[in-house]
Amino acid sequence: MKIFKHINRIIEEIKELKQQKKTIGFVPTMGALHKGHFSLIDYSKKENDITVISIFLNPAQFNNKNDLKNYPRTLNADIKNLRLRLCPDDILFSPSEKEMFISQGEPDNRVSDLGHLDKIMEGKFRNGHFQGVAMILNKLFKIITPDKAYFGQKDYQQLVIVKHLINKLNIPVQIVGCPIIRERDGLAMSSRNTLLSKDDRLNAASIFQTLSKSQSIAKKLPVEETKQWVIHQINSNTMLKVEYFEIVDNKQLKTIKSWSEDKIKVGCIAVKVGNIRLIDNIIFNL
Ligand code: PAJ
Repeated sequence: MKIFKHINRIIEEIKELKQQKKTIGFVPTMGALHKGHFSLIDYSKKENDITVISIFLNPAQFNNKNDLKNYPRTLNADIKNLRLRLCPDDILFSPSEKEMFISQGEPDNRVSDLGHLDKIMEGKFRNGHFQGVAMILNKLFKIITPDKAYFGQKDYQQLVIVKHLINKLNIPVQIVGCPIIRERDGLAMSSRNTLLSKDDRLNAASIFQTLSKSQSIAKKLPVEETKQWVIHQINSNTMLKVEYFEIVDNKQLKTIKSWSEDKIKVGCIAVKVGNIRLIDNIIFNL
């Protein structure tokens, strides 16, 4: 695995790889790597000659200073883990904040109009979050110029927004959405899970367990009542607090009003577990 910290250097390397007609798969991350991230790397390795993974904890997408301050930083362990998985020609790009925001000019901010997509759910509760995500991905896509880029369905709204972004900005990359990797008890893997206390970690399992049960509840109850059932069920554990649970279509993220609508329906949830905010989602096959 080759490690790059400077934009100019990695651009040169990519140019050389393109001259050799190598295909490039890209996995953007913020580090504190876990099996969810590794699954994206596995997909990329299967489908491309070279895999580039980026680790950059992007301050621009954090609306809460404490969340950024407490976000796990495990670069040395991440590098060790990546060395076990990547080939000698694969690449880790781990630039500093200065490199991304100052040395090479500020990232292009003009990607901002995401319409309805960043006004709801995560966008509503994390003001400016998706603006920060869009800005950094736009910059990373320009540097890496990948053929394919891999994103987890765990961050469903992010995946939809990334697809919207590359269409809007005509970025020639194929976005691949990959399945959610879960712990044994169903909790979606997340870098933030390591911040949970022992009790909170046990309680957090009820998020996915409730989402799973809601698939059969949905066969008996209308959409609105299914939503209320999920919220009530999770909130009945006093250690958990649902921030939102919305059932939306998979393309425009518009609220589903009836199960009879001919759309793929995704139930997206955010839950506060102690001080930690977790998100998850489930597809309703109705
Ligand atoms: P991060 O939270 O590090 O996630 C990086 C990628 O891993 C995202 O595409 C995310 O959806 C995926 N991922 C996380 N947990 C997963 C799981 N349990 N199963 C499958 N995939 C999972 O998302 C970001 O970073 C940032 O917003 C980023 C896109 C890097 C922009 O800064």
